[in-house]
Amino acid sequence: MYLTKEEEQILNGEAGETLRQAIGILVALGDIYGADRLIPIKSAQIAGVSYKTIGDAGLEWISDLQGRVKVPAILNPAGMDLEDWERLRISPEFAEKQKLIIQTYAKLGIRCECTCTPYTLEGFDTSYGDHLAWSESSAVSYANSVLGARTNREGGPSALSAALLGKTANYGLHLDENRVPEISIHVEFPLKGSDYGALGYIVGKLAGSKVPVFHLKTTPDVDELKALGAAMAASGAVALYHVEGVTPEIRRLNFEDPEEKITIERKQLDEVYETLNKATREPELITIGCPHCSATELEKIAKLLKGKTVSKELWIFTSRELVKRYPEYIKTIEKSGAKVVCDTCMVVSPATNRYSCVMVNSGKALAYVPGMCGAEAVYGNMEMCIEEAVGGNTAKKEGGSH
Ligand code: F3S
Repeated sequence: MYLTKEEEQILNGEAGETLRQAIGILVALGDIYGADRLIPIKSAQIAGVSYKTIGDAGLEWISDLQGRVKVPAILNPAGMDLEDWERLRISPEFAEKQKLIIQTYAKLGIRCECTCTPYTLEGFDTSYGDHLAWSESSAVSYANSVLGARTNREGGPSALSAALLGKTANYGLHLDENRVPEISIHVEFPLKGSDYGALGYIVGKLAGSKVPVFHLKTTPDVDELKALGAAMAASGAVALYHVEGVTPEIRRLNFEDPEEKITIERKQLDEVYETLNKATREPELITIGCPHCSATELEKIAKLLKGKTVSKELWIFTSRELVKRYPEYIKTIEKSGAKVVCDTCMVVSPATNRYSCVMVNSGKALAYVPGMCGAEAVYGNMEMCIEEAVGGNTAKKEGGSH
């Protein structure tokens, strides 16, 4: 791998131990994956923030780092709401460790708003063709697929290293040849809302790490694309997808349709929704906001909850910036007894571990909640989730339509 004279000096430790370690990580990855050089990045998004996932070993590693990031960098969700951690009954011991992790990242100049939807925040604009080092898998998928930017699915340490250097190794999805569709997915019936999360949950398992191209009967909006990508990244390892006529790269470049073709049937989606009726117990907790809710989703939830009172725990996850920007939605949602929670999510917070059955409207949460939180997960669309929280199992009794 070619290094400039300055990069060689950094690798030799002439710019300090932190940068030596950082470039060492990027060069090692570059050598493994055949990168020719390091390339500049526009921004970084760093996972490995929740004390639940990184523990003391992770805290120790980041505590030893010195210096400042060279590009805008932001954190992925932490294990708790940083301003109101007691609300979801996080223990003081956990909170103490989590605060230490955040303070350590802050010292490196990283923006400590913890969200998996950085692309919705001011100052984090991402455009077609930008090279990035993002690590949360749904954000990676959104950046590559919906925005047409270029990032590999970085690990926490490699995203942090890239932020400290302002560069990443040029391999994988930074290169044109790895962005070409490899598997063609056909859906011959209309899709709406959470159908996209269910579709992603199915296709991720079939596609693995291949690049799918979708041929759909309906045009998804950005929230639906967000849900589709998040689910495929969790049930499989899809970091880039295209939707014919919709996503930017396939609209600019004339990709040939791949030979491998799969048709998805309505009954396959029905099976995902059937998790609600087949659950061994009633959902005790309902969560929305995986990935973090957009302004449009908050508006929709506020409308659905207006004038109602929840009878079950309902947690809505979003970014702090959106909470500040849309106080009227938050007020309406919280008047119902639901909790709007920032900086964290149902998967990376230990708060979810207290529940044995969790209802979600996210294919990603459906894939991760059982393993990460030890709870059964069931699926419904946003309306079914709200109905379950308000009416307690109404959606299930009525058979749940989507
Ligand atoms: Fe975001 Fe947590 Fe889901 S990080 S994509 S809300 S698992």
